[in-house]
Amino acid sequence: MRFDQRHLLGIEPLRPDEITTLLDLSDKYVTLNRQRDKRSTTLSGLTQINMFFENSTRTQASFELAGKRMGADVMNMSMQASSIKKGETLIDTAMTLNAMHPDLLVVRHPHSGAVDLLAQKVNCAVINAGDGRHEHPTQALLDALTIRRAKGRLHRLSIAICGDIAHSRVARSNIMLLGKMENRIRLVGPATLMPAGIADFGCEVFEDMTEGLRDVDVVMMLRLQKERMDGGFIPSEREYYHRYGLDTEKLASARPDAIVMHPGPMNRGVEIDGTLADDINRSVIQEQVEMGVAVRMAVMDLLARNLRARPKEVMA
Ligand code: NCD
Repeated sequence: MRFDQRHLLGIEPLRPDEITTLLDLSDKYVTLNRQRDKRSTTLSGLTQINMFFENSTRTQASFELAGKRMGADVMNMSMQASSIKKGETLIDTAMTLNAMHPDLLVVRHPHSGAVDLLAQKVNCAVINAGDGRHEHPTQALLDALTIRRAKGRLHRLSIAICGDIAHSRVARSNIMLLGKMENRIRLVGPATLMPAGIADFGCEVFEDMTEGLRDVDVVMMLRLQKERMDGGFIPSEREYYHRYGLDTEKLASARPDAIVMHPGPMNRGVEIDGTLADDINRSVIQEQVEMGVAVRMAVMDLLARNLRARPKEVMA
């Protein structure tokens, strides 16, 4: 079992065997989380600070729960996006927190690259909980765990990622992870919501949803990230739903045992039909939430092992 990272800033630096190590350990935490007594002492004595400069429900809650179940001292700082002025303020905040000797820093930030920058300034382990449209590694890992448990494997699957790819860090991290594990990835959505340089991603691109979903094993839906759009990307939500909203009719072109995923928060009736999202025979959306806690426990466990293996750095 090898995991050589000091931080988890993205999927990009991970090797396939490190991804497997993380998922194998996550499976153990799924079992622990299903027991009445869920506590472990893995992180006892360590301090975890969650800094969310952007709204979050699932991610923040699951990091908090993960830390508490493993015995860390967990502090949540809620930083409103409006109160930050990029660069200097972020670094100042980081330095202030660093002086309090945290061991694990979980950071979500609206700017791509902000979490990497912060990691260079502190001497604890930093976990990226989503930075702009760049990466959201724990989301991709929990999606991978959900797929592996539902399909029994995480390679040679045909996976469609649909909707607002251009603004999505979830899509970017998933494309990287699923690509590293040798799956076939199809990106489905209007040309206006496809990122520039899409050809370099090594994925097939479809504008027609029925075509794009043909015989896939997994359908991964994305939220329309309106907060990252400055107008003009889609004609109207109604029109978007008509062409790209997942309903049973469009899903019929996927394999009969295809699973439906969504990272949340969902816009029912915009990117997905509400009844289909709740259909426990097709949708694994609730499993994704469950896997989220386990994956975050595994990530913090492995980073803490690496932290403990290093001599404690003295601050300058
Ligand atoms: C995603 C995010 O914040 O990147 N949500 C999440 O973490 N579950 C996706 C989204 O906001 O649409």
